[in-house]
Amino acid sequence: MKVAPSLLSCDFAKMGEEIVKVDNAGADLIHLDVMDGHFVPNLTIGPAIVKAVRPYTQLPFDVHLMIDYPLDYIDAFADAGADIITFHIESMSEPNMTIDKIHSRGIKAGLVIKPGTPVDAVFPYLDKLYMVLVMTVEPGFGGQEFMEDMMPKVAAIKAECAKRNLDVLVEVDGGISEATAPAASKAGVDICVSGTGVFKAADPSAAIQAIRNS
Ligand code: DX5
Ligand code: ZN
Repeated sequence: MKVAPSLLSCDFAKMGEEIVKVDNAGADLIHLDVMDGHFVPNLTIGPAIVKAVRPYTQLPFDVHLMIDYPLDYIDAFADAGADIITFHIESMSEPNMTIDKIHSRGIKAGLVIKPGTPVDAVFPYLDKLYMVLVMTVEPGFGGQEFMEDMMPKVAAIKAECAKRNLDVLVEVDGGISEATAPAASKAGVDICVSGTGVFKAADPSAAIQAIRNS
């Protein structure tokens, strides 16, 4: 499994250094959580911050948009240096238009589903996606408990892709640590996002290795 530390749990005053820290600790991608205070009840970072920290690593930027109107901000996050943009199927933007806009900027597209959303909501778009992100907490805050009961969604996406001969990665996000990663691994997850599990660990490098080797 690949590991994508979520900057939501880093020291925001030292975001550049925190990125270097997890890059050196073996991270595969950097996960950036964008929240607008409407789609989720929290506010985080926008394109200006993504752009400001872009020079600190060569690792891919995995930008998770938790905003009402992702389509309106694709250009801004493309300009800021996103490599993968994931947006919520529950957002207000039309999925096909949003995916096409992401692709028009040469970026990989992903769809995200909240815990309460049935997995087949993303099936109509699978052939255009690089990745599906299955939320394993309610989006909005770090440090919540992993919902293991979301793992059947991972298996369902993998089964649907196998049936249609598609190669779509599955990422999980929320409550992933050394303790919960084995359940994700067993379900067939390709990428684990981990905020608290990496940034609050005594040894982030060991935490990343442990999740990867689950
Ligand atoms: C939650 C975010 C997650 C969050 C994960 O809305 O999408 O990326 O940072 O944090 P942990 O790993 O602490 O649950
Ligand atoms: Zn996230």
